[in-house]
Amino acid sequence: MMKGCQTECLAGGCTGGATKQVTESFKAEDLIITPATTLKEKPDPNGLVFGTVFTDNMLIIEWSLASGWEKPHIKPLENLSLHPASSSLHYAVELFEGMKAYRGVDGKIRLFRPMLNMDRMARSAKRATLPCFDKHELLDCIRKLVEVETEWVPYSAAASLYIRPTLIGIEPSLGVKKPTKALLYVILSPVGPYFASGSFNPISLWADPKYVRAWKGGTGDCKLGGNYGSSIYAQHEAIELGCQQVLWLYGENHQITEVGTMNLFLYWKNEDGEEELATPPLDGIILPGVTRQSILDLAHLWGEFKVSERYITMSDLTTALEENRVKEMFGAGTACVVCPISKILYNNENLNIPTMENGPQLATRFLNKLTDIQYGREDSDWAMLVS
Ligand SMILES: Cc1ncc(COP(=O)(O)O)c(C=O)c1O
Repeated sequence: MMKGCQTECLAGGCTGGATKQVTESFKAEDLIITPATTLKEKPDPNGLVFGTVFTDNMLIIEWSLASGWEKPHIKPLENLSLHPASSSLHYAVELFEGMKAYRGVDGKIRLFRPMLNMDRMARSAKRATLPCFDKHELLDCIRKLVEVETEWVPYSAAASLYIRPTLIGIEPSLGVKKPTKALLYVILSPVGPYFASGSFNPISLWADPKYVRAWKGGTGDCKLGGNYGSSIYAQHEAIELGCQQVLWLYGENHQITEVGTMNLFLYWKNEDGEEELATPPLDGIILPGVTRQSILDLAHLWGEFKVSERYITMSDLTTALEENRVKEMFGAGTACVVCPISKILYNNENLNIPTMENGPQLATRFLNKLTDIQYGREDSDWAMLVS
């Protein structure tokens, strides 16, 4: 029994506190590896469309209330066979994670702060009433899968191998209840450079309070599939209005929360004239991003300006724009690291955000620092070698 898991479950952390059930985790040392013998051709990372090409193998681990976790298995990527009543299909009892493996300039493969993804995944599992697992054991299984697929990690310091851990309820019944069967699997997909041109491409946003991504007491702070499926409609409206992504607002005072599927940062001179890097606080409606945390950690370490987790409203922003106090606004996430924002359509008015006119110096500094760590140009305990 892995201690971490036992403790969480006994505390009512995972499959439900009422029954105080102990779920023994799978273990990486039990991995069964039967890799594919016919290998696909590796694509040129430059022309890749995100999430369309998958590697030869996957990790899969079955769970049932009756028997607990089965042995983890690395085997050829294949379609799943699910009962049509599976709870993930009807009630979105499912979650996922998003992380990357990078081929460093020294040829070594690294993950970036992967325990933060494991922690978030365990929190999502708890919220979705899916079974808990030992986070270290899962990470070791993922490292093994990436090792098996080493050749799929692009030979490029601009591309990477995207890792998609997924946990789905496969309860074969239509009752809205905690699943008694689940499937944890991990698939891998090589991804090309986010900014194809090699330089920052700023994005335009549509901000309208008529759609909300998350709400207090909801699931916005977890990576549950339902949060994303229900956001696509608004994303399409943004595109119809000539914007690239949605700036998600919340509440009567139009708080700025997140941008598309990224956390949001504002670098400005605040109301008190202080130079400040601000991002909304983790109050339940914000996804606690690994990149967000890393940017906050770096900014605190640098100690050159005020760093705040604070509320920012659209009125704070428009006033600051009128007073020329905004320096940069950018999204932050695993996909792009940082993504500058150049325009916000709000109340039928186009707000010009001067991010690019300002370098963007700070966004570039974060991008360089984080990618130096990811691609092994700089030593850091944030990077974990795959093997
Ligand atoms: C809603 C949302 N916010 C923020 C992020 C950024 O998180 P991370 O930095 O861990 O990729 C993501 C990406 O997964 C997301 O889906």
